[in-house]
Amino acid sequence: MDSDQWKLASLQYLEHLGKLGIRHLPKPSAKLQDMLVEWKSVDPVIKPAVASKAKPPSTPVTSAPPAKIPMGPPVESPWLTPAKNPQERTAALSELKVKVEACRLCHELACQRKQTVFGVGPVTTRFVMVGEAPGAEEDRIGDPFVGPAGQLLDKILIATGIPRDQVYILNTIKCRPPGNRVPSDSESENCRPFLEAQLEILQPDYIVCWGAVAVRAILGTTEPIGRLRGRFHWYKKTKVLVTYHPSYLLRAPEAKKLTWEDMKTLMRELGTLKP
Ligand code: URA
Repeated sequence: MDSDQWKLASLQYLEHLGKLGIRHLPKPSAKLQDMLVEWKSVDPVIKPAVASKAKPPSTPVTSAPPAKIPMGPPVESPWLTPAKNPQERTAALSELKVKVEACRLCHELACQRKQTVFGVGPVTTRFVMVGEAPGAEEDRIGDPFVGPAGQLLDKILIATGIPRDQVYILNTIKCRPPGNRVPSDSESENCRPFLEAQLEILQPDYIVCWGAVAVRAILGTTEPIGRLRGRFHWYKKTKVLVTYHPSYLLRAPEAKKLTWEDMKTLMRELGTLKP
């Protein structure tokens, strides 16, 4: 696929999700198209091929009527599992959420939060994304990854072909640390039972740890991400991939290509990486 085809496919995908009423994904604006292409272009392998540059299409893709996506019969999603007990999982998560909302173990966080941010996603997912802690937007809205880091996460997931509404997204810490400071070890420890309980209920096949705080809570190590990324680790029976936090990628865009490598490792594992 060259970048124009990729752009068109992304647009169609977003339009399709929009028709399904899927939340959180940005609308397919012209700006978004450019941003998606910009994200993908960090990967040298998927830059437009020289041949396609030499022979541009006679009609510019942007003015062509959108091609129809053939919509066959519904297929089972590779991101979801035919879980035996979705109602039980939903009930257990609701019960846990009430406990999280009532928690005041971290006095400073509990005093300053607008609300706790529990996590969001389908209970039958095979994939859990673990972030650090809510920021200002997350604290205001009550969902994880809805601020600037979340917008980058959206782009990464789209580029990786992972529908955001089919993965469970949660944070290591459920309350916003004031000023978005890094959570302390004791705050992570206080919140860890909630994280562990969420994972116990969801039983995912894969966890992606976004950043060092998640890595420490899930893998129990302070090894730098640079030494842990690029291969799978284990949390109980779940495969764990480690990569840089989207907030870090916003500060250090040169690291985006490493995270894209990590996403390709995941795609390779899932058999979704196009040669
Ligand atoms: N927003 C979140 O919900 N988590 C993060 O780790 C960062 C931003």
